[in-house]
Amino acid sequence: MQKGHYIFSGHDTVELARQYATPLYVISEDIIRNNIRNIKSAFEKEHIDYAVNYAGKAFLNTAMCKIIKDEGICVDTVSKGEMYTALKAGIDPQDITLHGSNKSEEELCYALENGIGCIVIDSMYEISVLNELCEKKSRKQNVHIRVTPNIEAHTHEYVQTGRIDSKFGIPIGMALRAAQKVSQTRYLKLTGIHCHIGSQIFAQKPFIIAANNMLELMSNIEALGLDVHELNLGGGFGVNNMTDEELFSVKDYASALKELLEVKCPEIDIPVPKIIVEPGRYIIDNAGITLYTVGTIKEIPYMRKYVSVDGGLFENPRPGMYDAVYRACVANRFEDEPNELVTISGRCCETDTLINDILLPKCYPGDIVAVINTGAYNYSMAGNYNRLPRPAIVLLKGDKSELMVRRETEEDLVRCDEVPSWLK
Ligand SMILES: Cc1ncc(COP(=O)(O)O)c(C=O)c1O
Repeated sequence: MQKGHYIFSGHDTVELARQYATPLYVISEDIIRNNIRNIKSAFEKEHIDYAVNYAGKAFLNTAMCKIIKDEGICVDTVSKGEMYTALKAGIDPQDITLHGSNKSEEELCYALENGIGCIVIDSMYEISVLNELCEKKSRKQNVHIRVTPNIEAHTHEYVQTGRIDSKFGIPIGMALRAAQKVSQTRYLKLTGIHCHIGSQIFAQKPFIIAANNMLELMSNIEALGLDVHELNLGGGFGVNNMTDEELFSVKDYASALKELLEVKCPEIDIPVPKIIVEPGRYIIDNAGITLYTVGTIKEIPYMRKYVSVDGGLFENPRPGMYDAVYRACVANRFEDEPNELVTISGRCCETDTLINDILLPKCYPGDIVAVINTGAYNYSMAGNYNRLPRPAIVLLKGDKSELMVRRETEEDLVRCDEVPSWLK
């Protein structure tokens, strides 16, 4: 470990860049486990009957599933690919939930054939489709209904999903009808209800208001003679990329929830439900960084200095999609005074700015730049724009490092290409 280098999770990042090449996603298993244990201990301290479904959309691969399984939590999936990954990694199908606002018949059949624990119904239409598929396969299926509880969570508007005007879920005003429709099917068993009010939420209040509304809905559903005993309150625990401070307190969330459950459930005469939470970002975001090598440096006089790195839009589309902001440092001169305002840009044929206006020590070609808190929705949203191979992911545990995903090659890029007969 060299003095003056940026150390992440006990590892010299310059050494990691040298050993595994860049661009490189780096993930710390110790941080992931610590985040999961934070959530578990918050709910356990309050004696809440709970389950954690890790939202696989944030970051999923085989090794990640092994960590999830080892920590004794479940996984929330949204596609056949995510279910396949989880099953192949040995996760018990009963510990898998399937979400999706437009699940294909193929995905639903795959879920039924593999005994997926819970399917979250997202529309009235899906109730009929799923019941028919269950009938064909002679299988009963536990389901939840996803409800939009009309909560405005204060976060970036692109990631608000709890509002009524949303492609996700069934508006709360129609939820009772949906529950009735499920109860009239032969093959679907309604075991709970679900809501997800958005991502990057820092306040407790929207979660507690949503929980309150959902408990009232549960009471109305129970009045129909149905027994729903699970309440999935979704994910969305906020993570601020610009600071190491924990700005969303799961402890406070669990304690506020406990208070609500203790007061509300007797008041509306329902048993206290099992609480399920579905965090993605909270578990993985600060467990990841991305390492890049600086290439071209271009100064537009009186305007801007561009420091170009060997990654960009293809491996982190979030700045372009969501105006996501990040911190970064020059890993090989971590202790140098930041004295130059620069823009870190990617290498794609787009204006793929990774970070606008950041103060860094003077950069030179060959420097290693580390972008911090890139664990969530970077690798999982990455693509091959400009026919660029996706980076490798290295996993750190204690003082060990090993690949959890190898770097793609050019051969991988043409693996699915076909040449129509008239071009042969
Ligand atoms: C249904 C559902 N659950 C959980 C999550 C995870 O959200 P986050 O990563 O913000 O915790 C999402 C994210 O979009 C979601 O749509």
